[in-house]
Amino acid sequence: MDRQETVSGFGQQHIPVMVSESIQGLNVRADGRYVDCTAGAGGHTLAILRAGASVRVLSIDKDSTVNDIYKEAVKGYEKRVELVKADFSELKKVATDAGFAPVAGVLFDLGVSSMQLDEASRGFSFQSEGPLDMRMDPAQKISASDIINRYEQKELAAIIYKYGEDSAGNRIASAIVRARPITTTAQLASVVSIAKGGRRGARIHPATQTFQAIRIAVNDELQKLSDALKQAIDLLAPQGRLAVISYHSLEDRIVKQFMKTEQRNCICPPGLPECRCGHKAALKIIKPDFITPSEQELTLNPRSRSAKLRVAERIAQAA
Ligand SMILES: C[S@@+](CC[C@H](N)C(=O)[O-])C[C@H]1O[C@@H](n2cnc3c(N)ncnc32)[C@H](O)[C@@H]1O
Repeated sequence: MDRQETVSGFGQQHIPVMVSESIQGLNVRADGRYVDCTAGAGGHTLAILRAGASVRVLSIDKDSTVNDIYKEAVKGYEKRVELVKADFSELKKVATDAGFAPVAGVLFDLGVSSMQLDEASRGFSFQSEGPLDMRMDPAQKISASDIINRYEQKELAAIIYKYGEDSAGNRIASAIVRARPITTTAQLASVVSIAKGGRRGARIHPATQTFQAIRIAVNDELQKLSDALKQAIDLLAPQGRLAVISYHSLEDRIVKQFMKTEQRNCICPPGLPECRCGHKAALKIIKPDFITPSEQELTLNPRSRSAKLRVAERIAQAA
């Protein structure tokens, strides 16, 4: 896919990130089967389909509102592609049920799409007025409003500190509890901004980290990622590739640690006279350890600025 291609729907555009790097990382084979765990607007799925004449792709997304945009993107390829509404933490079952195991590659392009971010009614952005929602799956029960308005202050502070990596977690949580009920994204952004002393000299909006933290908690993003990565190993055929694009340090750390651990034959604590874990290496990290968007891509799509792509290859495990 050309870097400048966008996938648009409902007036919004999503520009897929590091497309050619992902295709190269996946080492797409002409007749391979691939799972795109984060279908979104179908940008990466389309690129995989175009990379090989007989390639088949199983696309997964938990957000059913992507359907129309995705289908428009993969028009003409219907015989080689399937979209399943599911959480990628069910990856192994979804792929097996679809008759898709083993596979030549698994791709994750984490986080939210531009369609989700830019649609005020989804409540992901502090830059527009919307309800406190932030659910990737609109059918999910728990939303941002439940966390903001019902969680105990201590719990809220821990979420902001841990998932937002914001040392002002206590102060922000206390301000949120005092301002309850909070019903909109703009109201939350303002409460957080005031608690943090406003924008003076700030490089990013003062509410950025809190919004990230609440979104991660609403969607249980880090646990789902850890669960899915483990399943990807079981799905991959020898020499199959795992490619993951992450957008913040918490998810990147999980991917990096996972690939490093799965590259080792023994993960016993140091100092033991002999291996007791029996762990066998399952992956080989493809160098360089990670790739970031080119200058050209950053100019065309500033939203790609925090992206990091990591790739690893499945190795056959010794008996
Ligand atoms: C960055 S977008 C992907 C964009 C896509 N690669 C494209 O080119 O259009 C991430 C997508 O992953 C979905 N997603 C995030 N976490 C998920 C999960 N745990 N299970 C299934 N889908 C998920 C989101 O709903 C969103 O549509």
